Amino acid sequence: MSGDGDASGASVRRLADWDAEDLRALAAEYGTPLYVDDLARVRQNYARLAGAFPDAEVLFAVKANAGRHVLRTLAAAGAGAECASAGELARALDAGFDPADVHYTAVNPPAADLDYACRVAAEHPALTVTAGARDTVERLAERGFAGRFCLRVHPGVGAGHSESVSTGKDAKFGVPAADATAVLADAAERGFDVVGLHAHAGSGITNDQLEEHEAVVSTLADVARETDLALEFVDVGGGFGVPYREEEDALDLDEVAARTRAALDGVDATLTIEPGRYLVADAGVLLTEVNTVKRVADATIAGADAGMTTLVRPAMYGSYHPIRSLVADERATENVSVVGPVCESTDVLGEDRDLPAPERGDLLAVGNAGAYGIEMASQYNSRPRPAVVALDGDDTEVVRRRETLADVTLAEDTASDPYP
Ligand code: LLP
Repeated sequence: MSGDGDASGASVRRLADWDAEDLRALAAEYGTPLYVDDLARVRQNYARLAGAFPDAEVLFAVKANAGRHVLRTLAAAGAGAECASAGELARALDAGFDPADVHYTAVNPPAADLDYACRVAAEHPALTVTAGARDTVERLAERGFAGRFCLRVHPGVGAGHSESVSTGKDAKFGVPAADATAVLADAAERGFDVVGLHAHAGSGITNDQLEEHEAVVSTLADVARETDLALEFVDVGGGFGVPYREEEDALDLDEVAARTRAALDGVDATLTIEPGRYLVADAGVLLTEVNTVKRVADATIAGADAGMTTLVRPAMYGSYHPIRSLVADERATENVSVVGPVCESTDVLGEDRDLPAPERGDLLAVGNAGAYGIEMASQYNSRPRPAVVALDGDDTEVVRRRETLADVTLAEDTASDPYP
């Protein structure tokens, strides 16, 4: 279904490029709401990004889509994994990533996460642990950590699709650049094997934010030049944006790569990048069925069976996702708001959309749903999470079954009696 013969494919796959008949058949077979992930497109995205950064190590940011099907596909393609939690670390190793290609990036890690990561590091000395606070360094030392260590630097400059994901500006992440060499020296003194530096500008960087990206990389390069320690890699994070709006251009990867290299000039270390969204966003669509149509004075509202618990990005960040009607018949278009089944006003998938006049039973596709879609889905309103199917050429497989009402209470039902 990917449609592109070339290994790295077109730089953008728009929602219009998906075959409507195929999507209708999937919804008919597996029901809605349904996430569809096309693994051939994941491979293309990886090939294109790795091609633009031929000498870099590419770690997939697992948080974008931790589905086993995605992790296995990317591990087989040659990617490594960046894990933000013990759970992601467990899933990455389980999916077959070589521990040598896995980084655990601890952000204020709960004790249980750190215990787990230290155990994994002791068992697999090739694993890299990244810390972004002096406290984390101390807490690692308390656990006898002596493995591969990377320091996350707070660059003070951020970028991304909204303020809420401009990580680089947020002091929560990383140690201030001015303190970095001292913290690196301290880590080395404690017996850690200091191997790298890390920073992440933010998520969803576009062509007009390359200066911010370059500034973040320059900050890392300055620290790398300053420290006496020999570094194996400099990890400039992820954040490579994808076009969500039909009229938006693709990110100019060659330009990003050129600017990254320019900023790292003279630094003798491997470049590492951590893309999440770029590898999976346009490989996924969300299918949802309209169950209620309401025409009021100045609006048409299409109530669908997917909402903020299925895909939270519009409610959480005001993000735009393209929406396409998959109806086969010809209809006049209408200005429509597509909303979900949750009892909240922010439960919206898209507003002000020109769509064929909606009718009950219509199938809609929501584009760019492969990143931070199922991963951020919740059971709020006691709503079971949707199923996920993976496509690979002519194969279709349910890789995550639709949850049932029983799944909603599973943790309660299997808990030791909390109120004996
Ligand atoms: N590396 C680190 C350390 C990160 O914190 C992140 C994302 C990434 C890599 C991957 O960023 P990406 O390439 O996917 O942009 N839920 C938000 C995105 C939050 C991302 C947080 N960190 C969204 O739906 O837009």
